[in-house]
Amino acid sequence: MPTRLASRIFVFRPSKETLVTYKKRTHTCGELRGTDIGKTATLTGWVDSRRDLGGVIFIDLRDRYGKTQVVFAPQHNADVHKSAEVLRSEFVISVSGKIARRPAGTENPDLPTGEIDIEATELTVLNKAETPPFQIEQETQASEDIRLKYRYLDLRRSNMQKNLLMRHKAYQVVRSYYDRNGFVEVETPILMKSTPEGARDYLVPSRIHRGKFYALPQSPQTYKQILMVAGFDRYFQIVKCFRDEDFRADRQAEFTQIDVEMSFVDENDVITMTEGCIAEMFEKVLDVKLNLHFPRMSYKEAMETYGSDKPDTRFDLKIRDCSDVVASSRFRVFSDTVKKGGIVAGICFPGLSNYTRNQLDGLTDFVKSLGAGGLVYMKMHADKIENSVEKFVSAEESAGIAAKLGAKIGDLVLIISGAWQKALSILGALRLEMANRLNLIPLNKWNFLWVVDFPLLEFSEEEKRFAAVHHPFTSPKEEDVSMIDSDPSKIRARAYDLVLNGTEIAGGSIRIHRKELQSKVFSLLGIGDEEARQKFGFLLEAFKYGAPPHGGIAYGFDRIVMLLAGEDSIRDVIAFPKTSSAMSLMDDSPSEVAKKQLDELHIRIV
Ligand code: AMO
Repeated sequence: MPTRLASRIFVFRPSKETLVTYKKRTHTCGELRGTDIGKTATLTGWVDSRRDLGGVIFIDLRDRYGKTQVVFAPQHNADVHKSAEVLRSEFVISVSGKIARRPAGTENPDLPTGEIDIEATELTVLNKAETPPFQIEQETQASEDIRLKYRYLDLRRSNMQKNLLMRHKAYQVVRSYYDRNGFVEVETPILMKSTPEGARDYLVPSRIHRGKFYALPQSPQTYKQILMVAGFDRYFQIVKCFRDEDFRADRQAEFTQIDVEMSFVDENDVITMTEGCIAEMFEKVLDVKLNLHFPRMSYKEAMETYGSDKPDTRFDLKIRDCSDVVASSRFRVFSDTVKKGGIVAGICFPGLSNYTRNQLDGLTDFVKSLGAGGLVYMKMHADKIENSVEKFVSAEESAGIAAKLGAKIGDLVLIISGAWQKALSILGALRLEMANRLNLIPLNKWNFLWVVDFPLLEFSEEEKRFAAVHHPFTSPKEEDVSMIDSDPSKIRARAYDLVLNGTEIAGGSIRIHRKELQSKVFSLLGIGDEEARQKFGFLLEAFKYGAPPHGGIAYGFDRIVMLLAGEDSIRDVIAFPKTSSAMSLMDDSPSEVAKKQLDELHIRIV
């Protein structure tokens, strides 16, 4: 070796401290029981808590399997007792001793190992720890930012470990289920061509191809369709997807899908296969037996009854259309809305006729913040109906509305008017808000619902053109294809969403598999031949060579695990999630990069 290099070699001379030999564990910290009393054991783990009771030191030793109490007392071993004085929270140790029955009255029935403790006769400190910024306990008061910054500590908490173990179990169920059903797991690229799925792409600049970019997949949609053209027949993948969109409790910049595609199938085949997987997940992960098949509801009914395309059907509070009652009302807000093709609809809240002015003002502000012009209320008193616009709405109209809504004495009726989608969506949000305020949402209920018959297209007022409700590869219903030129907004899609307790947990469709129909849909979406060729030429090209009829679905895996785990946010079931502003607080990404890196990528920050 040349001396110049040799002289730079760093010679590591371990000190006595760094060369720790220690006894390997014989058991985990969650394993020992009364039946083990009298044996000896070695445990390794983290010091969860430490109590010094005048001469006797107790610690709870923790690993991912549980906790075990260890007792350091002079009568068991005076030296070991002395060395235990240095122990602090989160020190990593190996400890050996006799398994003893805890003195009567000191057992801990909440702990599986609560009958016993270890009388320590050997101790090795494997590593010290600084005082953690928050205590490692099941429920923590630490802010989410602190938890995310010190995620490795947060992940030591039993709640988080339970969630990730549950997630692990769910992966295994999915893999085994699809494998048994003849599906092939195929990985698809992470660096790919941008495919439009509705959100903004994350882009990766190419170093080699100046000025060109890869996109991170919003989903492997085009690849899985191409795998069908390639004859794989049944594909699945547990896959990361990336979408640069606004984040919420159930949305992340990168999230995981269970992605599925099948050839020679119709909607029922995909739906039945999906229900089987969900049922197996619930049975194996939660020991809950679900009743198959899940109910189905059209998008129109979902919107008109629940004001949402992902209705929470665990509670009632249904929306009722009262447009016909007020079609010729003197109250122009109502009658004009109906004339313009909009809707006047309301919800009856039983027993709330005593709602105060203040409470109603709060609700008015709430709906206004969502874009409503206002909120009309009716209070059903014993002697009369009090209507917030009674100067304009006749007593007969009030009575008609009350009848439509099935309102009885003591009830409160809230009414919104406006364009169909907007007014119903606001009522849907109001329905959820009230259910939360009134504590009407039962826990431990699993309400699944397939929402079907979505429109194929929605008109974007902003862009003055149609956009795909799902994605541009979704097939229209056979019986609606004839409206493709005359009335495209009426075409229904062969799409289906699976909703659980008001959360959309999966969505998919039967695809267009013929080039001509795909080109036609592209043109409806305002995507010209040249743009289509540029963006999805590869898919259209593939379709020239015998594409089988096919369809599929993708489940939001994080959302399913969130619901299985009883959490409110998908961040609690993802090991290393981003914040709501797409930051990783632990590794501090996104971050600036060296100028040299930017130069290589031909990028200048302006
Ligand atoms: P879609 O866009 O409906 O369909 O996505 C499928 C499911 O993924 C979940 N999901 C998300 N979860 C967390 N964070 C996000 N940002 C996020 N976005 C979506 C939802 C949703 O139901 N390629 C199509 C599927 C298909 O047609 O086969 C697709 O991606 O639970």
